[in-house]
Amino acid sequence: MGQKNGTIAILGSTGSIGTSVLDIVDRLNGRFRVVALAAGSNLALLAAQVEKYEPALVSVSARRDAEKLRRLSGSRRTRIVHGPGGAAEVARFDGAGIVVSAITGMSGFGPTLEAVKAGRRVALANKESMVVGGAVLRREAARSGAVIIPVDSEHSGVFQCLGRTRRRDVRRVILTASGGPFLKTPLKDLGTKTLEEALRHPRWIMGKKVTVDSATLMNKGLELIEARWLFDLDPSRLDVLIHPQSAVHALVEMRDGSVLAQLSATDMRIPIQYALTWPERLDSGLPGLDLAGTGRLEFCPVDERRFPLFGIARQALKAGASLPVALNAANEVAVGAFLAKKIFFGDIHAVVGKVMEGHRTRPADSVEAIIDIDKDARREARRHIPQR
Ligand SMILES: NC(=O)c1ccc[n+]([C@@H]2O[C@H](COP(=O)([O-])OP(=O)(O)OC[C@H]3O[C@@H](n4cnc5c(N)ncnc54)[C@H](OP(=O)(O)O)[C@@H]3O)[C@@H](O)[C@H]2O)c1
Repeated sequence: MGQKNGTIAILGSTGSIGTSVLDIVDRLNGRFRVVALAAGSNLALLAAQVEKYEPALVSVSARRDAEKLRRLSGSRRTRIVHGPGGAAEVARFDGAGIVVSAITGMSGFGPTLEAVKAGRRVALANKESMVVGGAVLRREAARSGAVIIPVDSEHSGVFQCLGRTRRRDVRRVILTASGGPFLKTPLKDLGTKTLEEALRHPRWIMGKKVTVDSATLMNKGLELIEARWLFDLDPSRLDVLIHPQSAVHALVEMRDGSVLAQLSATDMRIPIQYALTWPERLDSGLPGLDLAGTGRLEFCPVDERRFPLFGIARQALKAGASLPVALNAANEVAVGAFLAKKIFFGDIHAVVGKVMEGHRTRPADSVEAIIDIDKDARREARRHIPQR
């Protein structure tokens, strides 16, 4: 591994993925050096990270927080920048060989694109980037030589199963979904589920937005769209199975009928580490899989009556163009309102459904077009948020 490959910039360093990345950096003692960080507004944690890792560059969301961070961290060696421009600077920071993209939502798209344009190895957690701009990111990566390695556990599973397999040899790719906290909830009770209940994920501890997306199964819809672009696969070859034990993360069925599966303990640090060390594998003391302890492994198809947002996402995947962008924007607005306790759980799919019904499909093949579509869909979604 070249010297630059041992240097890391983390977009979203204070989040669930970002802190797990730093845990891996600590475990692989000396293998990686953190050279740049970007976060939102968790200044206390960011200041501690700056003190510990002494990165050359750090970005925060708000201008006023940049000065606060300087005082809190006491660092003289670190340059502090702010806003979307600051995050973009971190993404293209010359001293970093690997950029971990782990900001939540559409805010991660701009910085991810910068990292790709700069030809970095991008360890991609921010699935929303691929959902809104998969074609653009692939085009720019082909131009710059950037390599995009998935962090999402399911996509890491697919990536590992695929290896060097020719795409024409792949019949079907299957992502698994735990089914979230409401897999067995009576349908009539789903609409009024509370935020606290939605945040109680049975298998994974994650940021709030992705946890709510897992409860609606929108997360799996977004992941299908992400997979379509990451692996350059036609939507007809992508599928999902509910698998409550979350031991198998993905399956790849070859055209000769052979099926490869990837299994591991439910610990995001495993796919994160692989994205950082690929193609090598290193021992960092992470847990193995206790299959006998897991017991039965169950699989079943997705019930779209229970998870209507999954159905809407599948349609957007098939239709392509502006629909995935509108889907993501509407979902971010609706989930934001749910997290702010302004709407009920059942309102999330109602809002997204209305935006998608009224959406006029148009091309989404440039950054400008994507930003425009995103803005329009957010405006529409806000209009449909019920006033309670
Ligand atoms: N968590 C998981 O296990 C998991 C698994 C697979 C994929 N993912 C994906 O990874 C991404 C991150 O998820 P997460 O669970 O780590 O989310 P999270 O815990 O909410 O963390 C999000 C991070 O992004 C930062 N951030 C938010 N808005 C920002 C902005 N405008 N500018 C700069 N930084 C900003 C936050 O900073 P502050 O906290 O400082 O405000 C935080 O560091 C999501 O796209 C998610 O779908 C997550």
